Amino acid sequence: MKSVINELHFEEIDSTSSFLKREYLNLTNFTFVSSDYQTRGKGRLSRQWISDKFTNLLFSFLIKDKKIIDNFAKLSLISALSIAEILIDYKINDVSIKWPNDVYINGKKVCGILLEGQVPDYLIVGIGLNVNQKVFPTDLAHPITSMAISLSKEINIQELKQKVYSRILENMDYIYKDDNSFLNKIRAMNYLLNKEVFAIINNEKTLVKVIDINEDCSLKVEVDGKTINLNSDEISFHY
Ligand code: BTN
Repeated sequence: MKSVINELHFEEIDSTSSFLKREYLNLTNFTFVSSDYQTRGKGRLSRQWISDKFTNLLFSFLIKDKKIIDNFAKLSLISALSIAEILIDYKINDVSIKWPNDVYINGKKVCGILLEGQVPDYLIVGIGLNVNQKVFPTDLAHPITSMAISLSKEINIQELKQKVYSRILENMDYIYKDDNSFLNKIRAMNYLLNKEVFAIINNEKTLVKVIDINEDCSLKVEVDGKTINLNSDEISFHY
């Protein structure tokens, strides 16, 4: 089990990712920052990430290492894989990864990942994992769940956090060793496999069928009998 060298925790902060963005010049590679509560938690596509106090795992980590920054497409997937593996270690069934960076339990979102930064200087991976929250807003676009809902018991967030941090550090070896075998693990948990999603192709919203995840981490889809590869900014997930 690898242990984190630079670890910070705040009872309350605007956003762990915003903190790292402000402070990245003063902090080292693999600084992990968590918080019990965020007043301005950020989600993807400029959405808010709202989470009850002391209930979920909210953290971000800083990447300044060139090798990882050069492989940033792998970073989201490896982070998602790390969370998915920990959920499986907690004996949670039906865990899947929705390319490029969400983790699902039984078709419901349990974890979101936000990748930000400035290549080639730094990257920030922000992760929100629903742990002990049992009630969620009802107006959300997609169904949401938590580890506690799935396991019908409370989870010790401190213990979980150390396991998650260690697994993320261990899985960075896939990048350091140029080992793409992690992709097969992700393919085996590919939530989108054979599903239809909308992609923006030549500025047009087009329905495509997901076939695979490529070695370069792009998504392989089929449209009008042709196979094309898409990056994450070319897909919108409105079914
Ligand atoms: C998503 O929209 O699915 C991504 C959500 C990412 C939320 C996490 S919580 C910790 C970190 N700090 C933030 O402000 N956002 C990320």
